[in-house]
Amino acid sequence: MKKILVTGGAGYIGSHTVVELTEAGYTPIILDNFSNSEERALEGIAAILGKEVPCYRTDCTDAVALREVFEQEPGIAGVIHFAAYKAVGESVAEPLKYYSNNLGSMLTLLQVMEEYKVNKLVFSSSCTVYGIPEKLPVTEQTPVQKANSPYGNTKKICEEILTDLADSGSNMRTIALRYFNPIGAHPSARIGELPLGVPNNLVPFITQTAAGIRQELTIFGDDYDTADGTCVRDYVHVVDLAKAHVVAIERLLSGKAANIEFFNVGTGTGNTVLEAVKAFERATGKKLNYKIGPRRPGDVPKIFADVTKATVELGFKTTSTLEEAMQSAWDWQLHLEETSTKA
Ligand code: NAD
Ligand code: UD1
Repeated sequence: MKKILVTGGAGYIGSHTVVELTEAGYTPIILDNFSNSEERALEGIAAILGKEVPCYRTDCTDAVALREVFEQEPGIAGVIHFAAYKAVGESVAEPLKYYSNNLGSMLTLLQVMEEYKVNKLVFSSSCTVYGIPEKLPVTEQTPVQKANSPYGNTKKICEEILTDLADSGSNMRTIALRYFNPIGAHPSARIGELPLGVPNNLVPFITQTAAGIRQELTIFGDDYDTADGTCVRDYVHVVDLAKAHVVAIERLLSGKAANIEFFNVGTGTGNTVLEAVKAFERATGKKLNYKIGPRRPGDVPKIFADVTKATVELGFKTTSTLEEAMQSAWDWQLHLEETSTKA
C-alpha cells in the first residue's frame, strides 16, 4: 500500500484522485489549506470509500509545516501536486497572490521532497500553456506560447522550473499532466466541484442556471470560426482525469518514466459551447435558459487534445461521454441543494 501525498487533495480534481488512488490500492494522504475547498469534500470521500483518508490542514508554501507532514508520514512514495489557485480573472486582478501561492507551493514542495528523498512527482498543468494554437488537435510538441494570464503563466513557469530541475541531473522524476476542460462529478454525487460565488466556468454555470440559482447562461460569442460559431473545448470527465493521475504515478513508480514527461489529458474531441449545452439538455431532460452575448476577452476560440501519447505510453483512456459528464454534474448540483436544504 504505497503512500501518495496529494497536495490540494480536498479540491475538485484532488478529491476525485484520492478516491481513484484508494480504489487502485494506494494510500493517499491529503494535504490542503482549505483556501478553496470545504470539509464536506472529506466527508464525501469517506462516504464513497467507507473510511476516512488522513488529511493535514497545511499550507504547502510553509516549509516547516510541510516537513512536519513528511515526518509524520514516513515512506511517502510519490506526490501529486494540485495545490494552487486557479481563477483566471482573479489572477489578472491579483497577480502577486497567484505567483506567490502557485510558485511558492511548488518550490517549497520540491525543496522538502528533496530533503526527504522523495523523487516522484505528478504536476497539474493545463492546456492554457498552448495559448491560441495554430494547428489542431494539439500534441505535446505543439509550441508553448506566452501565457494570457498570470494564472496561465504560473503553469508555464512551473513547467520550466521542473524542466530545469530535470536537466540539472537531479533524480526527481516528473510527469506534468496538461488538463483540458475537466467537468462532471463522481457518479455517487458525494464529491464534485464547489465553485465559490458566481462560477466562471461553463458547467457549474449551466447547472446553477438549471437549478434556478442563476437566471440565464450567457454564451460568450457565436461569431467564431467553428461549426456553430461558439468556442470549442475538450471536456474531460473528472473521474477519467483522476484515473490519469493513477496511471501517471504507476509509471513513475515503475521506473519507466524519463526525467520529465508531459501528457495531454483530454478526450481528443472538441465540442462547441452550444453542443455542451445541448448535451446537458439531452442528459437531464432540462431546458436551459440561455442567450448569446459578446465574446469573453482572452478566450481561446478553439482547442482540443491529441491524446495519442497518453493513450500509448500511460494506457490512459476515457470512458465517459459528454452526456454522462453533464448528468453527473447535475446529480452533484442536486446533492448540493439537498444537503444545503437539510443544513
Ligand atoms: P481546486 O481549487 O478545487 O483545488 C485546489 C486545492 O488546493 C483546493 O482544495 C485548495 O484549498 C488547495 N490549495 C490551494 N493553495 C494551497 C496551498 N498553498 N496549500 C495547500 N493547499 C492549497 O482546483 P482544481 O480544479 O481541483 O484544480 C487542481 C489543480 O489543477 C490546480 O493546480 C489547477 O490549477 C489545475 N488545473 C485545473 C483545471 C480546471 O479546469 N479545474 C484546469 C487545468 C489545471
Ligand atoms: C478557463 C481558463 C483556463 C483554465 C480553466 C480552468 C480562460 C481563457 N481560460 O478555461 O486557463 O485552466 O478555465 O479554470 O479563462 N463559457 C460561456 N459562458 C459562461 C462560461 C463559459 O459561454 O458563462 C464558454 C467560454 O467562452 C468557453 C467555454 O465556455 O468557450 C469554457 O469556458 P470555461 O469553463 O471558463 O473554461 P476555459 O475558458 O476553457
